[in-house]
Amino acid sequence: MRKVQVRTGKPYEIIIEDGIVSKAGEYIRSLTKAMRAVVVSDTNVAPIYAEKVLGSLRENGFEVSLFVFEAGESSKRLATIEKMYKHFFEHNITRTDIVVALGGGVTGDMAGFAAASYLRGIYFVQIPTSLLSQVDSSVGGKTGVDLETGKNLVGAFWQPIVVLIDPKTLDTLPEKFYTDGLGEVVKYGCIRSKTLFERLEKENAKDFIRDIIFECVSIKRDVVEKDECDKGERAILNFGHTFGHALEKLNNYKFITHGEAVSAGAAIITRISEEKGLTEKGTAKRLELLLEKYGLPCNSDFSLSDIVKATRGDKKSTGNGINFILLKSVGECYIKKLNTEDFEEFFGL
Ligand SMILES: NC(=O)c1ccc[n+]([C@@H]2O[C@H](COP(=O)([O-])OP(=O)(O)OC[C@H]3O[C@@H](n4cnc5c(N)ncnc54)[C@H](O)[C@@H]3O)[C@@H](O)[C@H]2O)c1
Ligand SMILES: [Zn+2]
Repeated sequence: MRKVQVRTGKPYEIIIEDGIVSKAGEYIRSLTKAMRAVVVSDTNVAPIYAEKVLGSLRENGFEVSLFVFEAGESSKRLATIEKMYKHFFEHNITRTDIVVALGGGVTGDMAGFAAASYLRGIYFVQIPTSLLSQVDSSVGGKTGVDLETGKNLVGAFWQPIVVLIDPKTLDTLPEKFYTDGLGEVVKYGCIRSKTLFERLEKENAKDFIRDIIFECVSIKRDVVEKDECDKGERAILNFGHTFGHALEKLNNYKFITHGEAVSAGAAIITRISEEKGLTEKGTAKRLELLLEKYGLPCNSDFSLSDIVKATRGDKKSTGNGINFILLKSVGECYIKKLNTEDFEEFFGL
């Protein structure tokens, strides 16, 4: 078992342990006197893991209920949240009760947002089961849903009371989503950990996935502790994401996964910054080789001009500029703000 302490406004622990899903009730009981717990999960995860969590909660004296929604990003919208509120109401959830998110990033983002807003905020626990949610989305307190007009446009910062990570759950994660999560793992190596990057180069990620999870959440912890509400340094977690989001948009969010888009975005921006002398020589090639090793793309069929155009509506834009995250070298990054009027010159369009 490994623990990572997160010292945000409301401090909490991340606990990484094989089999923790079956012991969730014990951990949660040690933190709360809540009477009732609602487990929120999707149609893929609930049949495999919900009973383990519900059983453990019951054993520890919770009155439990289960809310299940159709798996997939298309459920991440206000209509599902409304159904969740109805479920909470019908099960007499009060401010001192608890919401347990059991699933991937979609589940965590939605259950977290429902918890943040129901009765102006109730406690919640993250039990992430996808690689992406274990290394990234379950830590940091960002919750929310998509609107027709864009992803993650409505949300709240709401910290969980504990994050319980069970690496064993990855055994049932479809390969496609495993690869997707590795896109974010490579990102962490790029921005903050040369050691992680080198290990990913030399070994096979699956052989040291527990170390990977520990390292990634520790990096994310360090970053969010300094910038809980995303006003500054947290932007570095967005490496690869500015072009990544553009690629997702250009593909209508259908033909490319988030991890693939981020990987291609990271490779493209790094080739450009290296050509401009802003990144140590050889970095782009190393990144490309690593992405290829894990079956992730390092290019796109869209032209650079289309990609740059599609970044203009990026949610992370500030005033008339966008903060691009560039690598200094493997394991070190910095923020470069570019004004939109300088795009053409910078990108040689
Ligand atoms: N809050 C944040 O900071 C943050 C950060 C990054 C991404 N996100 C969000 O996370 C979401 C993507 O997360 P995701 O990739 O986990 O998506 P997801 O929740 O849809 O999970 C991916 C798929 O894997 C299935 N699954 C999950 N765990 C499983 C398991 N153990 N066994 C079998 N199947 C399993 C799910 O049912 C789903 O089909 C996006 O909505 C994104 O916006 C949020
Ligand atoms: Zn991401």
